[in-house]
Amino acid sequence: MYGLAKAWLFRKDAEQAHDITLNLLKRYAHTPLAMFWRQKVAAKPTKVMGIEFPNPVGLAAGLDKNAECIDAFSQMGFGFIEVGTVTPRPQDGNPKPRLFRLPEKHAIINRMGFNNQGVDYLVEQVKQAQFSGVLGINIGKNKDTPEEQAVDDYVFCMRKVYAFASYITVNISSPNTPGLRSFQHGEALDKLLSTLKKEQAALTTKHGRYVPLAVKIAPDLSDRELQAMATALMKHQLDAVIATNTTLSREAVAGLPYANEAGGLSGAVLFDASTVIVRKLSGLLNGAMPIIAVGGVDSYSAAKAKMAAGASLVQLYSGFIYHGPKLIPDIVNRL
Ligand SMILES: Cc1cc2nc3c(=O)[nH]c(=O)nc-3n(C[C@H](O)[C@H](O)[C@H](O)COP(=O)(O)O)c2cc1C
Repeated sequence: MYGLAKAWLFRKDAEQAHDITLNLLKRYAHTPLAMFWRQKVAAKPTKVMGIEFPNPVGLAAGLDKNAECIDAFSQMGFGFIEVGTVTPRPQDGNPKPRLFRLPEKHAIINRMGFNNQGVDYLVEQVKQAQFSGVLGINIGKNKDTPEEQAVDDYVFCMRKVYAFASYITVNISSPNTPGLRSFQHGEALDKLLSTLKKEQAALTTKHGRYVPLAVKIAPDLSDRELQAMATALMKHQLDAVIATNTTLSREAVAGLPYANEAGGLSGAVLFDASTVIVRKLSGLLNGAMPIIAVGGVDSYSAAKAKMAAGASLVQLYSGFIYHGPKLIPDIVNRL
């Protein structure tokens, strides 16, 4: 079924295909049409960050930025769903076109730039959903918020989403918001993490519930940067790390159409670099916190390799676009 839909969708502009699909999922999740994507997935329960996951395969951030299709993605059998990145205020993102397929390599380049309807809208969508599974909410900063005030954007979003999230992801690794990746280093990272951990403690008291905090990192960190990142994550007692976001490297797609478009590259071509980061992080963290692996997972063996490198959970984005919902049971049922 997905093969047919994909053949039709892949003839359209990538973002148009994305919008059509999400509209359909949103509109028909609670109708008989949901039979086209509803599927049974084996129960493979696992406990990570103190949360019970029905299975370890999740939807990565960025596909459902506004949390409009949680119920449909849950019907597909994902063990958890991460929505966002959401920002305090709605924003348009970068000018179109900003999303490109590189089908020869099962890759995607995007420079969406956190196009989203803002955190209040996202919370409204979450409230309206029937979903009662594991929900990650991924937060970021508005493009026009000055870097000196970026921490306030994260705190603002954290307060808004806290009551509705199973865990919260701090996205400091998108390449499409100028200056965002600078929060992966030095004093900026230290200040961000200490502020957010303080806020988490205050919100735990306020809501009577501890919501774990994860940090999502880029695959383009040097060994030294990765070591400093691991040290900071441990110092501030983060609850998990998500590795990785998209890469700025174009080595794996050189010469292909769209290879020189600005933005982050994802998909099968990201698998190796991203898995190396998971393996190195696993050594550096030495069990101090779980790793959620994302980057080029497109098969059971790819998911298995992420776990072997030290991941407790995996997430799908590009692999899901190229292989469809069937990828979820293909992985989960064999784990
Ligand atoms: C079109 C697109 C939009 C994305 N938007 C976000 C986002 O808003 N926030 C985020 O943390 N990651 C975002 N990502 C990154 C993915 O969550 C994931 O980390 C990355 O694509 C690597 O996984 P993959 O190789 O399975 O696609 C986006 C990826 C794509 C392709």
